[in-house]
Amino acid sequence: MSLKKILKERLPLSDEELSKIRRGFEIIGDVVIVDIPDEVYNLKDEIVKAILEKHKHVKTVLRKVGEVSGDYRVAKYEVIYGGETETVVKEHGCKFLLDPTKVYYSVKLSGERERIFKSVKPNERVLVMFAGVGPFAITIAKKSKAREVVGIELNPVAVNYFRKNVELNKVKDIVKVYEGDVREIVPKLDGYFDRILMPSPNNAMEFADVASLKTKKGTIIHYYTFAGVEEEKNLIKKVEEIFSPYLNCKGIFMRRCGNFAPYVYRYVVDLVVL
Ligand SMILES: C[S@@+](CC[C@H](N)C(=O)[O-])C[C@H]1O[C@@H](n2cnc3c(N)ncnc32)[C@H](O)[C@@H]1O
Repeated sequence: MSLKKILKERLPLSDEELSKIRRGFEIIGDVVIVDIPDEVYNLKDEIVKAILEKHKHVKTVLRKVGEVSGDYRVAKYEVIYGGETETVVKEHGCKFLLDPTKVYYSVKLSGERERIFKSVKPNERVLVMFAGVGPFAITIAKKSKAREVVGIELNPVAVNYFRKNVELNKVKDIVKVYEGDVREIVPKLDGYFDRILMPSPNNAMEFADVASLKTKKGTIIHYYTFAGVEEEKNLIKKVEEIFSPYLNCKGIFMRRCGNFAPYVYRYVVDLVVL
C-alpha cells in the first residue's frame, strides 16, 4: 500500500500536503526507507506510526536526506525510528546481509535478477561487474546451473557483505569475489565469459572497453543505463555504438527496469557478441 493512501486514511490532510508525499517507501529486510520532503516533516511521527502499524517487523525507519551518489552509490539517511541499520533481506530464496546506509542495494531490481538467473544456461561462466553485496551473483549461483560466477566490487564494506553472503547462501564453490576496480581486475582475469553483467547505470559506458576484453562469440552482455523516455526509441542503437570501437555486437532486447526520476528510467539492454 502506498504511503499516501495510508496517511490519507489516518489524517485530515490537505490536497497540498498529500501532493508533497511521495507514493512509496522501500522495505529492506526490517529497515524502511522513506522520502519525507521538508514541507511535510511535521508529519514524520505519523508517517513512522503508519508504517509500523502496517509492517510490524520493522525495527528502523530511515529518512532519505541525500540522493544516491559517489562511486559507491549510497544515499544519505537520517534515522527517524530505531537505530540498527544492518539487516537481512530475503530474495528468491537467498539471504543478503547488508547495511543500506553503507552499501547499495535495491529491492526494486529483484524482478530483473529473476529475468537474468532464468536466462543463464547450464555450465555458463558469468562475470558480474559492480557486484555490490552480491545479489546478482548469488541468485545466479543459487538459481541457475552456472559453472562459475565472478563478482567484482569496489566498496570494501560491500565486498565484506558479499563474502559473508556467499557463505550464508552456501555458494562458495561457484562464486568468486574480487575486491577492487573492475578497470584493474577484469584485464587480469583468465579466459572469457558467456555472460557479462554491467549493473552500474550511471557510468557503465566508461567500462565498455574492459568488458569487451573478456567476451567471445556468443557472449551476452547485460548493459544498464539511465535514460529519458525520449531516448528509448534509439537506445539499443546507442548502446551498440558505445561498444562498436571494441566489439562487433548486436542489441537483442531492451526494457525499463526501474524508475529513476520523472520520465527517466533505468534500462537494461542485452547485447550478443557476433
Ligand atoms: C548501482 S550499484 C549495483 C550493485 C549491485 N549490482 C546491486 O544490484 O545491488 C553499483 C556498484 O558498483 C560499485 N562500483 C562503482 N565503481 C566501481 C568500479 N570501478 N569497480 C567495481 N565496482 C564499482 C559500487 O560500489 C556499487 O556497489
